[in-house]
Amino acid sequence: MPEAVLHVGSGKVRELYALDAERLLLVASDRISTFDVVLPTDIPDKGRVLTGLSAFWFARTGSVVPNHLLALRDDGRSTECKRLTMLPIECVVRGYLSGSAWKDYVTTGAVCGHRLPPNLVESERLAEPIFTPATKATAGHDENIDRAAAVELVGESRFDEVERVALELYELAAEHAQARGIILADTKLEFGVDGDGRLVLADEAFTPDSSRFWPAQDYEPGRPQPSFDKQYARDYCESIGWDKTPPGPELPEEIVAGTRARYVEAFERLTEIAFDDYLADPEVVLR
Ligand SMILES: Nc1ncnc2c1ncn2[C@@H]1O[C@H](COP(=O)(O)OP(=O)(O)O)[C@@H](O)[C@H]1O
Ligand SMILES: [Mg+2]
Repeated sequence: MPEAVLHVGSGKVRELYALDAERLLLVASDRISTFDVVLPTDIPDKGRVLTGLSAFWFARTGSVVPNHLLALRDDGRSTECKRLTMLPIECVVRGYLSGSAWKDYVTTGAVCGHRLPPNLVESERLAEPIFTPATKATAGHDENIDRAAAVELVGESRFDEVERVALELYELAAEHAQARGIILADTKLEFGVDGDGRLVLADEAFTPDSSRFWPAQDYEPGRPQPSFDKQYARDYCESIGWDKTPPGPELPEEIVAGTRARYVEAFERLTEIAFDDYLADPEVVLR
């Protein structure tokens, strides 16, 4: 990196640098995590897929809510963004019953306080998308929480605002994806607050890491759905009997290649931009 920058943190996937008091540089690595454990094997270009897709969505959702994106760098994996105070909740929207929501529904008949009709099956489409916030666990798994617990963390008016905005963003992205043969089953958004107290969409948006993308043509409620991207690496990890505690297993070459191809396919289907064109000039996703 040419300029003097201060490393301020690393997440499971991103490295964070402070450019100055107002700006961060977010660099998406090629690390992949399954079951919240970072694996020792990288997926080449995965960070570029995440960065390009997020920028694509930021460029298309500005009318719903402002976002943190300031500039996309030539390497395709670094974004300059507004430094925000992040809200302490993960803002999850679900249009389908899957993952932890399915587990919660089976045991309690409800998800994050949303009581759902009886006899729903796994992966079933919900009558209406629901906002299902979770805590941001610093270690381990995020925990689903209900409205009261989330209000405790962010306050009532902010809660109502993020719920409304997150649902609107989900509807916009789900519609876009559906028209391209992809079901956006659920997604996790992160918001921050700027110096003027304004709500700002941050982190990544509608990427394979933060969302469940299902090929629409294979959709069949009543079972787990094959997913576009991470499922492939997840299935491999489960097939070898890994107990889902660190360290994670190395991925063999064909699983790496297959996972990379799926990330790239998700990018190309959603953006209708050739991934090679993105590599040549990342700003294509902003036009
Ligand atoms: N604009 C921003 N200002 C401050 N923090 C941010 C901003 N955008 C994202 N972050 C934070 O940067 C981190 C991104 O790194 P990531 O590898 O995705 O972390 P995680 O392991 O928590 O998913 C997250 O903690 C996220 O909340
Ligand atoms: Mg993250």
